[in-house]
Amino acid sequence: MKFHIETWGCQMNDHDGEKLSGLLSAEGFEAVDATEDADLVLLNTCSIREKAVHKVYSELGRLREEKQRRPLLVGVTGCLAQQEQAALFKRAPHIDFVLGTMALRQLPRLVAEARAGKACVMDTGEYPDNHLFPPSVARRRDTAKALVTITEGCNHACTYCIVPTTRGAERHRPFVDVVAEVRGLVERGYREVELLGQNVNSYAGGCTFAELLERVSEVEGLEWIRFTTSHPMNFTKELARVLATNPKVAPFLHLPLQSGSDRILRRMLREYTVADYLERLGYLGEARARICLSTDFIVGFPGETEEDFEGTMKVLDEAAFDASFSFIYSPRPGTPSLRLKDDLPMAQKSERLARLQKRQTELTLASNLRFLGREIPVRIETHGPTEQGWWLARSGEWKTVHLAAGPGRELPFGELVKARITQASPHFLGAELA
Ligand code: 5AD
Ligand code: SF4
Repeated sequence: MKFHIETWGCQMNDHDGEKLSGLLSAEGFEAVDATEDADLVLLNTCSIREKAVHKVYSELGRLREEKQRRPLLVGVTGCLAQQEQAALFKRAPHIDFVLGTMALRQLPRLVAEARAGKACVMDTGEYPDNHLFPPSVARRRDTAKALVTITEGCNHACTYCIVPTTRGAERHRPFVDVVAEVRGLVERGYREVELLGQNVNSYAGGCTFAELLERVSEVEGLEWIRFTTSHPMNFTKELARVLATNPKVAPFLHLPLQSGSDRILRRMLREYTVADYLERLGYLGEARARICLSTDFIVGFPGETEEDFEGTMKVLDEAAFDASFSFIYSPRPGTPSLRLKDDLPMAQKSERLARLQKRQTELTLASNLRFLGREIPVRIETHGPTEQGWWLARSGEWKTVHLAAGPGRELPFGELVKARITQASPHFLGAELA
């Protein structure tokens, strides 16, 4: 049996894909890179916005044709699976099985049942130990940086968001398990970890998230710790202090703001005002100047006026985000925001999004220009140079760095090297070895 897993969405979904891949490998199945070579294709889906869902259905359409030509098992997992459950079989009858996000370990059973010819095999149950997935089973793609789950689910109730439905309520891994996993990873050669959760900073696995960072940072040989994603209301002074002072915690913070209008934040049920958000950034003190900050925005939320949007543009400059990810509001099934009147024409939403993104490009360029002439540690992320002769690397601040190694010089994949920044564009930094 050869399998291929196609993953969309966030790092949590990426890591779920690694866990699922490990489960199938343990069954003796062989992972292959292309759908065409697989006997089993697993679509590990995302449903955060309608666009993500379209991608899944279009891939399902392609697989239906492939299934007419040859024997093929098709499974759907991830957030769309959890959201749609049995409705998926109606919409796409060629799906053999559906696996929910909280039942990962049921995969081998579901595959066995589907192989035995059973139709519409499904498990979307909420297994209370899903987050305690055995770390040794995951089959990781990267060999230098490892994704590590610390918490699953979300207890907030943002009115636009499908995630509480698709990932359930919060469950936390005990900190001893997290630290043991990281130690094991470092022993196997990993240098960097990214701690994952729908809301990492509400962590409650026997200590606070800030304490967890400190404990993980004590693992000898570990170089960088990253984490994603955070809610501003759970961003504490203690966490800011660790971020500002612990040398192993990468100088980068992703803190989704969503809107610069208090009225819209209220309608989103974000639980903070713009002033609260800025106050929390203030916790970073002087360290704010060297920590790169990114955020998420939703543009065109139901009822967003020009004035509300101007608030977003204003805070963009005030916070001087180094990067931001912005999206047009996408109505999601079953979410409370569906009840809000949404009468802003799409053209106007697109125009606002373009304005925001244009300003962000300028801010990102300004952020990148500040790196010119500096020498910073970067991790080599490719095994060889790109066509342009650059080696791709990433800095602690999450900047993409194009590194010129010089003719004939091999750079060690996964290692930290010193880069002297010689160029800055809105999308990357150019550098040479220092
Ligand atoms: N529409 C548009 N963007 C959304 N996001 C979450 N839900 C929606 C939605 N319904 C965005 C938020 C979040 C990011 C991961 O995706 O900005 O922070
Ligand atoms: Fe997509 Fe959110 Fe699910 Fe991640 S948790 S896969 S971003 S819907």
